[in-house]
Amino acid sequence: MKSCFLLVAAFLLWPSFSSQNVCEEPDEIDFGEIVSTEKVKYLENDRVQYRCNPGYVLEGPEWIQCKEQEWTPHPPKCLAPCRITRQQLAAKNLFAFGGQRKTRFIQSNHSLQFQCNEGYVLVDPSVRNCVDGYMELPLCISERGQNCSGPPRTENGDISTLSEKQYRSGSSVEFRCQKYYAMEGQNRSFCDNGTWTKVPICLDPCMIPKAELERQKIEVKDGMDASENTFVQRGHSIELTCKTGYVLAANASQSASVIHCNGTPPVIPNCEEITCNSPRVLNGSFRPTKIYIP
Ligand SMILES: *[C@@H]1O[C@H](CO)[C@@H](O)[C@H](O)[C@H]1NC(C)=O
Ligand SMILES: *[C@@H]1O[C@H](CO)[C@@H](O)[C@H](O)[C@H]1NC(C)=O
Ligand SMILES: *[C@@H]1O[C@H](CO)[C@@H](O)[C@H](O)[C@H]1NC(C)=O
Ligand SMILES: *[C@@H]1O[C@H](CO)[C@@H](O)[C@H](O)[C@H]1NC(C)=O
Ligand SMILES: *[C@@H]1O[C@H](CO)[C@@H](O)[C@H](O)[C@H]1NC(C)=O
Ligand SMILES: *[C@@H]1O[C@H](CO)[C@@H](O)[C@H](O)[C@H]1NC(C)=O
Repeated sequence: MKSCFLLVAAFLLWPSFSSQNVCEEPDEIDFGEIVSTEKVKYLENDRVQYRCNPGYVLEGPEWIQCKEQEWTPHPPKCLAPCRITRQQLAAKNLFAFGGQRKTRFIQSNHSLQFQCNEGYVLVDPSVRNCVDGYMELPLCISERGQNCSGPPRTENGDISTLSEKQYRSGSSVEFRCQKYYAMEGQNRSFCDNGTWTKVPICLDPCMIPKAELERQKIEVKDGMDASENTFVQRGHSIELTCKTGYVLAANASQSASVIHCNGTPPVIPNCEEITCNSPRVLNGSFRPTKIYIP
């Protein structure tokens, strides 16, 4: 009877005990496979090796390891090559640099340089990268197309090239955004057979009123200075620091907070004065020189 009980106990304990250092089967990956020998059970510190199909490029670790029931790091990915065909090149008046026009594969994260047919202008950049099976081909604009009239405009931006009445097909204008504005897109627009290619957009900066910073007892290290406001360009950050003797109201162990300008209105932190509780003096008294009244 006793041995039977022990057996049951051992049976009940065994799975939970053994699963402590066993990993599940490692994940399969697309366009690749596990090349290390498969096992029935994977124990702590067991390793597994991945390999991608020919032409595919491994992104991430080649080996992963069983650690505390988890595979670490995460399994890799196999990135697809780009297929550029002769027909695609011909349809877009493109050649590979050197004048070749043939179908080819380009591995992910590898690049190809292009040129256009005679009489066409290439929209930069001429070198394009393959990103997991996708490559955006450059545009070739015919110099024999229709002229364009007045150049396009973009809000909060100016044209930095000379202004003309008529623009030939294939010619371009260059844009510059006004101070504190950040450019999104190519800084050039081309006249393409009577119409202009996409113009860049100038993104609004984040505006932080100085009066608000003063009110919240904040100092700014590297803000762009303008009279009444501090500006932060889109995509940039600014560090706001509480003045000496102040800490962040949200977290008293910090006095600085970073604000990232991403298009939403910035949330300005609150700083509050560092205060102490009254000291306790045994069998005595004290006379404060300053009293904090919240
Ligand atoms: C892409 O190639 C560059 C160098 O050519 C390398 O530094 C980078 O790590 C590569 N990126 C990936 C994801 O393989
Ligand atoms: C320009 O566009 C017109 C139609 O708008 C078209 O007939 C002509 O072939 C185009 N020219 C070039 C060089 O692409
Ligand atoms: C196109 O513009 C160029 C340069 O501005 C000018 O010399 C030419 O006469 C124009 N062609 C037409 C058809 O308007
Ligand atoms: C426009 O962009 C090109 C590369 O995309 C760069 O070399 C050039 O300096 C830029 N021009 C201006 C005025 O920013
Ligand atoms: C407060 O800041 C400390 C130090 O940076 C950090 O460790 C802690 O997690 C923060 N607490 C909160 C509630 O954000
Ligand atoms: C404070 O006073 C009490 C009684 O009046 C005494 O027992 C105690 O030892 C005193 N403490 C100190 C730190 O002097």
